[in-house]
Amino acid sequence: MVWNPQTYLAFADERTRPAGELLARIPDEHPARVIDLGCGPGNSTALLAHRWPRAHLEGLDSSPQMLEQAHKSGVTAHWIEGDVAAWRAHEPYDVIYSNATYQWVGDHEHLLPRLMGFVKSGGTFAFQVPHNMDAPSHALMREVAAQGPWAGKLANVREIAVLKAEAYYDVMRPHALGVDIWETEYLQVLHGEDAVYHWVSGTGLRPFVQALDGAEREGFIAAYKAKLNAAYPMRADGTTLFPFKRLFAVARK
Ligand SMILES: C[S@@+](CC[C@H](N)C(=O)[O-])C[C@H]1O[C@@H](n2cnc3c(N)ncnc32)[C@H](O)[C@@H]1O
Repeated sequence: MVWNPQTYLAFADERTRPAGELLARIPDEHPARVIDLGCGPGNSTALLAHRWPRAHLEGLDSSPQMLEQAHKSGVTAHWIEGDVAAWRAHEPYDVIYSNATYQWVGDHEHLLPRLMGFVKSGGTFAFQVPHNMDAPSHALMREVAAQGPWAGKLANVREIAVLKAEAYYDVMRPHALGVDIWETEYLQVLHGEDAVYHWVSGTGLRPFVQALDGAEREGFIAAYKAKLNAAYPMRADGTTLFPFKRLFAVARK
C-alpha cells in the first residue's frame, strides 16, 4: 500500500499532537534504546529524539516513501525498512513506542504481547491508535463502498483494525506491571473545501481508492465526498469540525 508523505503531512500538527501526548505519559528519564514503530516521515521520531537526545534511537517503517521523507527530516535516528508484523528485536529496548500505526497491522491479541516481549524489565511499551471506526467518516466509507458498481472490488478491502479499551487491557495486563489506557476526542478544526476528504485520503481511505482506477475511482470519490460534506458541513467561518477519537496505552514492564 503506497503512502504519500506530503498528503499525510498536510495535517502534521493534528497528527503529531497525540504523539506528544503519548510521549508525555512515558516515565523513563534516560532510556538507552528506543524504537518508533511505524515512524512515518519522522514526525513522531523527532519528539523522541528531542526528549532523549542520548538514546540509541531507531525508526522503523514499511513504506520507502515515508522513510525517504524521514531521512530528509534531519532527525538523528537509525531508519529501518521493515514490517512490524514480522519484526523481531535483536536486543531488548527500554522504550517501544508507536503512534498511529498498529491499526494497519491488526491481530493485536498476538501482536502486542509479542512486541512487549522485546521491552526490558522496567521499560515501557506505549502506543496510540485512532478509535473512530464508528464515526461517519468511516461508516460512510463502508456504506459507499458497498453500494456502488465498485462493490465487488471493494468487498475485501482491509480496514483499520482496533480493539475496545477493555480488550487492550486484558491483552496487555498479563505482560505488564500495570497498564494505563485512555481515550481523547479531539475536535479538529479543518480548513478549505472537502476538508474531511483530504484528511482521510492521507490515511484510512487509501486502501479503497487504491483498489479502483479511472472512472470508477472518480465515481467512488465523488459519492463519498457528497456524503462526507453532508455529515460534516462547512461552518460560517469556513472551517469544518471533525471530531476524532484516539486511544492511548502505556504499559510498564
Ligand atoms: C499514520 S502513519 C504514522 C506516522 C507517525 N508515527 C506519526 O505519528 O504521525 C502510519 C505509518 O505506519 C506505517 N505502517 C503501516 N503498516 C506497517 C507495518 N506493517 N510495518 C511497518 N510500518 C507500517 C506506514 O507506512 C505509515 O508510515
